[in-house]
Amino acid sequence: MSLKSVKTLLTLFGIIALVSCTDQAPVSQANGPAAPPAGSEAASEQIGVERWNSAEQVVLGSEVFTQNCAVCHGAQAQGAVGDWREKLADGSFPPPPLNGSAHAWHHPQEILLRVIDYGGEAMGGKMPAFIDVLEDHEKLAAVAYFQSFWTDDIYQQWMQMGGTN
Ligand code: HEC
Repeated sequence: MSLKSVKTLLTLFGIIALVSCTDQAPVSQANGPAAPPAGSEAASEQIGVERWNSAEQVVLGSEVFTQNCAVCHGAQAQGAVGDWREKLADGSFPPPPLNGSAHAWHHPQEILLRVIDYGGEAMGGKMPAFIDVLEDHEKLAAVAYFQSFWTDDIYQQWMQMGGTN
């Protein structure tokens, strides 16, 4: 084989290597929650992440949620309709899933509790205020309940975005 054809071959291999690299570029993150980058803290600590709440709080939260929230958000916090991002005919948003598949995990604890306290009515939404309906420990338990459906992955992303801090 001549030196020239060796060079051509090497160039070809180079191109192939480049192409296969781009093939492995990060998949579009437009759909659903973004996966944490490999090797990040979230990816390496996926098993048995410790939560802020106790198991008892989830049990109480299940009662609170069933009685006050499930009618709109679904018994397992799965939401009401197919697409929580799509406005209803009256221009309001449907009750979103709180089970980690929608948006709730973008909000730190403080904001979640504020939504529960004041509802969405002030912002033109439909959720009623619970400030005078539930005790503080019941609101926290309700949060613990719907968070029990979150994967550790989602939970850790929530913690990184503010969480209970
Ligand atoms: C009458 C229906 C209804 C009830 C009952 C209700 N919600 Fe909601 N909830 C909604 C709607 C609709 C929204 C979206 C914002 C809006 O339109 O007010 C929402 C939003 C939320 C959000 C914010 C989610 C996000 O992704 O930003 C949280 C958290 C929440 N609700 C928790 C609860 C909890 C906990 C209870 C029970 C204590 C409850 N909700 C009871 C209808 C309801």
